[in-house]
Amino acid sequence: MAARLPSSWKEELLARTDIVSVVSSYVTLKKDGRRYWGLCPFHNEKTPSFSVNPDLNMYYCFGCKATGDAIRFVMEMERAPFMDAIKILADRAHMALPEMQDDPDYERRRTQRERLLGANREAARFYHDRLWQPEGRQVLDYLHGRGLDDGVIRRFGLGASTNQWNDLTAYLKEKGYTQEELALAGLTVVKGENAFDMFRSRAMFPIIDQYNHVLGFGGRAMQKDAKPKYLNTSDTPVFNKRKGVYAINLLRKHRDLKRVLLVEGYMDVVAISQAGVVGAVATLGTALTNEQARLLKHYAPEVHLCYDGDEAGQHAIERGLNILEEEGVPCRAIFLPGGLDPDEFIRQKGLEAFEAQRPMSPTAFRMQRLRLRYDLTAKDGRADYAKACAELLRQVKDPVDLENYLEALSIQTDFSKEVLLEQVRAGKPKSETAANKPRPERETISAKRGQASGGYKTEQTLLAILSKGKLNAQVVRPEDFSTPALRQTAELLLAGETPASIAADDNLSDETRAAAGEAFILAAELDESKLVSITEDCLRKLRMISLQKEMNSLVQQMASLQKAEGDITQADIKAKTLELAQEIDGLNKELALLKLQGR
Ligand code: GTP
Ligand code: MN
Repeated sequence: MAARLPSSWKEELLARTDIVSVVSSYVTLKKDGRRYWGLCPFHNEKTPSFSVNPDLNMYYCFGCKATGDAIRFVMEMERAPFMDAIKILADRAHMALPEMQDDPDYERRRTQRERLLGANREAARFYHDRLWQPEGRQVLDYLHGRGLDDGVIRRFGLGASTNQWNDLTAYLKEKGYTQEELALAGLTVVKGENAFDMFRSRAMFPIIDQYNHVLGFGGRAMQKDAKPKYLNTSDTPVFNKRKGVYAINLLRKHRDLKRVLLVEGYMDVVAISQAGVVGAVATLGTALTNEQARLLKHYAPEVHLCYDGDEAGQHAIERGLNILEEEGVPCRAIFLPGGLDPDEFIRQKGLEAFEAQRPMSPTAFRMQRLRLRYDLTAKDGRADYAKACAELLRQVKDPVDLENYLEALSIQTDFSKEVLLEQVRAGKPKSETAANKPRPERETISAKRGQASGGYKTEQTLLAILSKGKLNAQVVRPEDFSTPALRQTAELLLAGETPASIAADDNLSDETRAAAGEAFILAAELDESKLVSITEDCLRKLRMISLQKEMNSLVQQMASLQKAEGDITQADIKAKTLELAQEIDGLNKELALLKLQGR
């Protein structure tokens, strides 16, 4: 089961793999200095922010922060599991696959995950089989009653949990899973002496990832007023509701998908898929997260949001559009009239009517939402509405689009297009609010870097030097870094991990990998001959920043002393003030000295 690749073999494979040539079979790369640049294959962009560093054998995208080594790149591009990517690369490098070897440490780390995924897979099969047995009859009738046919039930692997209290638990124990494992997988609830099934009397929706792993379940209650209506697997070592997307496993079957259609519910996904809609997915009972937005952008050039037609759904669309724009994902919104959800809409009006609902641009959708807030029958209301829209339209760069919006607005408000345009131009560029934030993809890389505060930039540079293996723990310590992501990266580097393996490490958070990837890719820009002086410079700057902080805090203490009341005597205040003044003086001298050295 959990045999692993010998690590020396994996190292040799990576060493024999030219990451530039691997990436080049998917992306056109241009050389610039010691780095290569191209359009990122993981998000949509018009100017290159995807970079490959052949020295460190890794890639990083400044736009969407995708990062990793050659293996991870192939996994992401081919949506392939680890071993498949290994085979592809071994083939390229003309290396034979090695004998798999047993490694107790690897066993320990991988086994638990594999055990839980195994239990989930068995559970999904079990629930599915139950559907066709007398115990699952009620659920099957329910699914049929909601218009689902057996074909779609099979395609989504839907199932039934029965009303017995340990139906699944008993079955999986017999299969050799321990109670601890089943509890860890969120399948079994242990209360004192008793262990019973987490899901009972529910229609089961297995949540399957892009590699066909069953991560968890959503279960819909059969009784009308059962609470909760949908029960989801709580977070487990293999399931995170903020990261997963329902039905993502079916997206890979569509190579030329024009758009991903994000809906609210599992039932919506299944029902509209049966009706013939392709590319439908749902979040797992939460609002769309940035992680999910980043995942979705691999699958199609656009994401369309089609939530329930009620106020809650429309509000959720607004938030979803903001998240997608934040992640640089081109997106649109589909409004369903009559407060219907996609499932109800298609059943009542049919597929054609559904497809006739035109996706709106985020701006058009936001204008439509604004309209509800103003009384357009009154002159004041129209004026206020026009001003609010003008604010939105300030973000529209495309003149033709702007013209169209102005025309629509003019008809709604009776103001001429010229006046409206003037209103758009008149406003100062607004401070960034969620609704009118520019898309990250438009940001240039230099702007991004300029944004990094002096301290952060310095720490990044230090990490870049560290990634070249030119520094050791006597010179730099993890504590020198101020963010958890940079600190963890420094720790791993000092422990001997390679930059590419850190960037590709699944066990690290996306934040840490992104921070590490960015720092490492910047390493290519460092002047090799000046590493010593650059390091000295960075360490000095960090020391200066920390001195400055210390000083600020002392100055504040001093200020609050002046205002002190109550028990403290005037003499005490005087003595304490003197003490602080001396300390500040000392820090000032050290700072001045450091500044002098910096010249
Ligand atoms: P049906 O009533 O079966 O048609 O469901 P729906 O798809 O219309 O459901 P609804 O709009 O109420 O919910 C959409 C999604 O929100 C569901 O697929 C669940 O993921 C989630 N959800 C709904 N109700 C609950 C609940 O009570 N608890 C939790 N955790 N999630 C819920
Ligand atoms: Mn519904």
